[in-house]
Amino acid sequence: MRILVTGGAGFLGSHLTDALLARGDDVVVLDDMSTGNPANLLPPRPGLTIVDADVRAPLLLDGPFDAVAHLASPASPPEYLRRPVFTLTTGALGTQQVLEFAARKNARVVLASTSEVYGDPEVHPQTENYWGNVNSVGPRAVYDEAKRYAEALTTAFGDSQGVDTGIVRIFNTYGPRLRPEDGRVVSNFIAQALAERPLTIYGDGTQTRSLCYVDDLVRGLIAMIDARGERGPINLGNPVEMSVRSIADLVLRLTGSSSRLEWLPLPTDDPVRRRPDITRAAERLDWQPRTSVVNGIGRTIAWQRGNHRTAPIRPATIPLAS
Ligand SMILES: NC(=O)c1ccc[n+]([C@@H]2O[C@H](COP(=O)([O-])OP(=O)(O)OC[C@H]3O[C@@H](n4cnc5c(N)ncnc54)[C@H](O)[C@@H]3O)[C@@H](O)[C@H]2O)c1
Repeated sequence: MRILVTGGAGFLGSHLTDALLARGDDVVVLDDMSTGNPANLLPPRPGLTIVDADVRAPLLLDGPFDAVAHLASPASPPEYLRRPVFTLTTGALGTQQVLEFAARKNARVVLASTSEVYGDPEVHPQTENYWGNVNSVGPRAVYDEAKRYAEALTTAFGDSQGVDTGIVRIFNTYGPRLRPEDGRVVSNFIAQALAERPLTIYGDGTQTRSLCYVDDLVRGLIAMIDARGERGPINLGNPVEMSVRSIADLVLRLTGSSSRLEWLPLPTDDPVRRRPDITRAAERLDWQPRTSVVNGIGRTIAWQRGNHRTAPIRPATIPLAS
């Protein structure tokens, strides 16, 4: 297949690109490098083309395409809070460009949506039928509502333009190449632990997250790309629920760090509980995660050990993204 991966120089997109190239697909990565890093796509490989462009502009790419994996979007809270209008327009205009491109090329589109569409959920665990609890004027709205609009637009192109569309809702995913300064919980804790700085816990640390290792997530994304006609939405994430405090304790144990814990107030609209119901992914994609959190965090620590000295550690204003 020939596949366009928007956001392919980022954390998830670069792992997806590696996996697609490894199975013999040709991949065109389109990325504006706003949070992506060309180094994530090294070494150059046959079948890999990189286009440095903003997804909000018309996509002028020649030749046939079988599928588009649409991942281009700020995803880390410090990033989307720093560039709120960019985040909203990337979700809106960028997704429209991708859908119009797919319509022209007769390609399947898979939208990388997020568990943030559930907001601070009143239903637990979250099934795809739950409509969510999102504050449209809260600080997280720039990301959550961009993705909700992107889902609606994708659905409209599927319904009215005959485009083969699919939506996955990704829950917290972590692993190598998640930037240490990204502000998401695992990379944040590891960066702090390796630098022997306090691990910042927002609230009392009893709020929960479910952490999915990147290799598992990429398997799910590829299953969705291959599942022609499957529209979703389908949750992809690890249903093992952990408190933020226990994630911090695990990172301290696995790094051997003597960092202390630092307690800060819970940010506005921070979700209290997060756990995907992945029944639909199991039934429709034959997918479930396989990597234990101890193994996954261990591999992420090993990667961050090699990288943390070169990366600035910027404190997060909100502790967690989807
Ligand atoms: N990692 C997670 O836990 C998670 C959870 C839910 C959803 N997602 C979604 O998955 C996708 C990838 O997230 P990630 O964690 O790899 O983040 P990331 O920041 O590493 O990757 C996003 C990529 O998109 C690019 N990008 C952003 N805006 C762009 C634009 N206007 N034009 C072109 N490129 C643009 C960035 O440069 C970057 O390479 C995002 O859509 C995100 O919302 C991720």
